[in-house]
Amino acid sequence: MSAADEIKGRLDIVQYINQYVPLKKQGKYWKAPCPFHGEKTPSFVVNEDNQSWRCFGACATGGDIFNFAMKQNGWTFREALDELGKLAGVEVRRQTPEQRQRGERLDTLRGIMKNAADFYHERLGEPDDTTRGVLNYAVNKRGLTLETLRLFQIGYAPDEWRFMTDALTALGYSEDELIEVGLANRSDNGRVYDRFRNRLLIPIRDDRGRVVGFGGRALSADEQAKYINSPQSPLFDKSGLLFALDLAKPAIRATETVVIVEGYLDAIQAHQAGYTNVVAQMGTALTDTQIKALAKLAKRVVMSLDSDAAGQSATRRSLEVARTALQADYAARMAIDIRILTVPDAKDPDDLIREHPETWASLVENATPVPDYVIDAELAALPANATLPEREAAARRLLPMLTASESELYRKDNLQKLALRLRIAERDLLNWAADQQRHDAAKPKPATQTTTAPDAPADDEPYFPPLDFDAAPPDDDAEWSDAPELAAIPKRDLHEAQVTAREAAAEAHCLGALFHQPELIYPINRKLRELANNDAGLRRVALMDFTADDFTRTGYRQLMAAFLEGIGQDERDPLDHVRAAAQHNLDGELAFVLADHWDTLRPRLFNGLAADLAVCLRQSRRFANEEPHTELVTQALRLRRARLGRDLHELSFLQADAADDDDLPYATRAQLVILAQRLIDQALHQRTHPQRL
Ligand code: UTP
Ligand code: MN
Repeated sequence: MSAADEIKGRLDIVQYINQYVPLKKQGKYWKAPCPFHGEKTPSFVVNEDNQSWRCFGACATGGDIFNFAMKQNGWTFREALDELGKLAGVEVRRQTPEQRQRGERLDTLRGIMKNAADFYHERLGEPDDTTRGVLNYAVNKRGLTLETLRLFQIGYAPDEWRFMTDALTALGYSEDELIEVGLANRSDNGRVYDRFRNRLLIPIRDDRGRVVGFGGRALSADEQAKYINSPQSPLFDKSGLLFALDLAKPAIRATETVVIVEGYLDAIQAHQAGYTNVVAQMGTALTDTQIKALAKLAKRVVMSLDSDAAGQSATRRSLEVARTALQADYAARMAIDIRILTVPDAKDPDDLIREHPETWASLVENATPVPDYVIDAELAALPANATLPEREAAARRLLPMLTASESELYRKDNLQKLALRLRIAERDLLNWAADQQRHDAAKPKPATQTTTAPDAPADDEPYFPPLDFDAAPPDDDAEWSDAPELAAIPKRDLHEAQVTAREAAAEAHCLGALFHQPELIYPINRKLRELANNDAGLRRVALMDFTADDFTRTGYRQLMAAFLEGIGQDERDPLDHVRAAAQHNLDGELAFVLADHWDTLRPRLFNGLAADLAVCLRQSRRFANEEPHTELVTQALRLRRARLGRDLHELSFLQADAADDDDLPYATRAQLVILAQRLIDQALHQRTHPQRL
């Protein structure tokens, strides 16, 4: 947890603000006249639930306790951190330069992943023949709703060699960086190409909602690998991640139960059905780290194991999982109750939940505690009228596991269970266990798995899904060498998503230039005014000053809004203002709108904005040695041109179904927009072909 989070956890925003502004409780919220602008009717609102405040009046700002303290006391974020830290008794440690550098490096890599997730997701949203097929797969074949696709930000990697590589390098990232996060590969002859092609892409996020990797699902059964996952990277460490944990946390806390399923799509389907305490493994065995993370949130961990095709081996695997859990002594070491859930009828949770969503709840409710599970399995292998020696043998096989716990209590409890089920006296069991311990101690190296149950796997066999498919598919480079030379690939028409990716780059570039030299906003506005040539209508409808609406991507819109706010004040450097906004001004309106999901989605949004800011700053640094002016005005005009296109599109809809309630009729507005487009086109033409005019 960061110092800032810890401070927030310890201080209460209502109490803190109340020292400065007496607050009155009104329904769910606390209210007061806004301390930052004069007013009589209280429009300053504090939300205790999500610890945020907002002025719905003239200032129209808001944030968390830090923003309030900064604004109230004129502090920088750093100062607020120090001061509130003292108040909360949290020591704010300064990072060493190396830590800072490493942190920044990781932030950059996360920024790449965030943008990649956006691009893949946007690509899926582009209506064309390919995406129609992909959506058909996701929606009709897999039963995912559009809302789910949005929530999980599922995307599509088109069947192209450089879709993502081009999009991300246009944003200023290097090919080496793309390779480092596993989005691209370098072939033997040095060409860099996309790792994910023609796949449904599932972003994998860390527990704070930051995209750290992808799982790419093949769209047809004849692909070599069903999934291609991100490779191990500084961000992506499968042994510590659990898919969907960021979304599942609130429900895990609320139910004190977490259910672990095997596949991404199982988890997604469960969430869609409202079972939001479900997370998925990453195609590897569960690790201590993962269990530890879950033990912090839940008392009960239910492991759901598929009983797929090879029913036999599925049971065997479950058994191995159970044994390992006992041997690892999770129950005692982490104070959790581990249970095993087997989905009946050779199905996986995905199928089951789609067919009978209601059954899932009872399966989870009735999951078998691990000791019972292994006892059951052993008993199932015994004949109904097993003899005493047979039962003794079974007991001896089970004892090492059932007595593996450090905790006296667990050992006793397990022995009682075993005694009862095998009809053997507890004292005998204790004696046999002691025998075994002596025997093991005498051996040079005690075997951890002395079980010889009929269906036990060999000792060195992996116990949980024997799946490790992360390496690039074996044919990856072969496939490439079959591919035509890059230069020989005909230049395709730019499809929409590439346009979006290009637009994103243009927007980042523009913001970067403005951040580099804030006063460059004036020549842009001057140019727009000049084109309007004193026409009030044009000025109002189409050639107004440059605003956040000239940007399409949410992050950039927010950054632009903060930038404009920044140059509208003179307390601090506009760029500092933007930084502060990016760090802490995310709350506010969004927090109110998203109140229910806020805790979950905030980190996602926050990290997204931070990543967007990083991209713009990177662009901004590129201007260190050049004069961005001329090019910037051109770029800005292009963005305005695109915005007018969007406006026109929207106007045509409005026109179709509404009576004019504005003083300017839609038709007139549309004419003005079209006129402005023409003016901008002329200006752009002049700028790019100056000598011809
Ligand atoms: P499954 O084979 O059970 O796939 O693998 P699934 O999740 O049910 O996927 P669908 O329903 O066929 O689409 C379970 C998990 O193992 C990993 C993935 O994490 C997957 O979700 N896995 C599986 C791979 O990493 N690569 C593979 O080729 C297969
Ligand atoms: Mn499945």
